[in-house]
Amino acid sequence: MKNVFEPCSIGNLTLKNRIIRAATHEGMAHRDGMPMDDLLQTYQRLAVGGAGAIITGYVSVKQNGRTFPNMLMFDNDTYIPVYKSINERLKQFNAPIILQIAHGGSRSMAKITGQDVISASGRRKNDYGDAVKEASETEIRSIVGAFVDAIVRAKAAGFDGVELHAAHGYLLSEFVSPVLNKRRDEWGGSTENRLRIVTGIFSSARKEVGNSFPILVKMSSHDEFRRGLTEAEAVKIARILQAASCDAIEVSCGYGDFMHTIHMPKVPVDAVLGLMPRYRNMPGYQKMLFRLMAPFLARVRAPLHNYNVPLAEQIKRHVDIPVIAVGGIRNLQDMKTIVSDKGIDFVSLSRPFIIEPDIVNRFQQGQQSSRCIDCGFCLIGVTKNKLRCYYGRVPDSRVSRQVGQSETKPDNLNSK
Ligand SMILES: Cc1cc2nc3c(=O)[nH]c(=O)nc-3n(C[C@H](O)[C@H](O)[C@H](O)COP(=O)(O)O)c2cc1C
Ligand code: SF4
Repeated sequence: MKNVFEPCSIGNLTLKNRIIRAATHEGMAHRDGMPMDDLLQTYQRLAVGGAGAIITGYVSVKQNGRTFPNMLMFDNDTYIPVYKSINERLKQFNAPIILQIAHGGSRSMAKITGQDVISASGRRKNDYGDAVKEASETEIRSIVGAFVDAIVRAKAAGFDGVELHAAHGYLLSEFVSPVLNKRRDEWGGSTENRLRIVTGIFSSARKEVGNSFPILVKMSSHDEFRRGLTEAEAVKIARILQAASCDAIEVSCGYGDFMHTIHMPKVPVDAVLGLMPRYRNMPGYQKMLFRLMAPFLARVRAPLHNYNVPLAEQIKRHVDIPVIAVGGIRNLQDMKTIVSDKGIDFVSLSRPFIIEPDIVNRFQQGQQSSRCIDCGFCLIGVTKNKLRCYYGRVPDSRVSRQVGQSETKPDNLNSK
């Protein structure tokens, strides 16, 4: 029977246990995309805290794929030395570091990139009011090239592997989606065509970095679109990824609606509104109106916990490569069931590592559950501040605070 705390492999990498830190945007980039010093400190805490592997927050492979001013960039070789130094310092902790590489697609912000927003298919506006253009053939090939260059760069910088972010409504997932991709050329239509951008990255990258450098994929396995992904297509996608030489698949969900991708017990109205300067300057009665309307504009999704496990289990039945389940996994007993009864190889956690970077050590010492209350305020806060836990209190968009500092010290809380 599989054990959560036993070593397990992804490609040629051996992880000391089956609990991975899922990619989590750290908000620790300077305006030029270079990492702040805090990033090393953040990874070090996770590594010392027992994580089997660390998947970094997403970094953009191209300037026009940047989503936030505090998003890390990785679009040229000037980033290699700083990451090389970070990775060298982390080697001693025996926690592989996997760089998550992404292109924001329609979720990029023209205001910060100074360039057109592109996606698989055009549409009138994205969430920031920017027009979204359909990527031309030349742009698609240049994006494939940018991902391949980033993989080569990641290897040179001493990362232990990369993960392609093909989930959550960013560019690669927009191509994969049967709803968001409306193309009629070789990049749209059949599942194989919609995945061509991803399989193209694999075939070119393998020529550069060989078969032994781990390349993982995070995919959305279900969505809420009427003609969206079916379970059968999610399995098909996983099988195509395996054939393309993918080393492991992380199973997530959703295309852009953060309440779907990251389940929360209630709509974080105050947190979202607190970040809107327009809202802060409104007279009281308008504020009240806004607050009353907000829950109708965003919907809470259930269940709160283990919500991608059924699809991950289904996918695992059809592939031989490791499968990682992510999404609301909080409890040690659930993790044991996921790996031993459901056959899933790894679990990955995001929010639990924010509130308790040493959560894996804590589990090993007998703590049964994460202390995260799933409020999701960390996600709202990180759009402007460095990553931290707010423990249900509204992030202050005007103050940038220190890494790892929480509103309520987790150690003072009772375990759930
Ligand atoms: C603050 C925050 C930042 C995130 N950044 C990323 C990211 O950079 N890349 C990614 O694939 N997912 C990102 N996610 C999603 C998580 O990796 C994960 O899929 C999701 O939060 C569900 O896992 P959890 O319930 O353990 O938090 C982020 C989530 C949070 C809360
Ligand atoms: S702010 Fe803290 S308690 Fe709330 S979801 Fe994030 S990590 Fe969990």
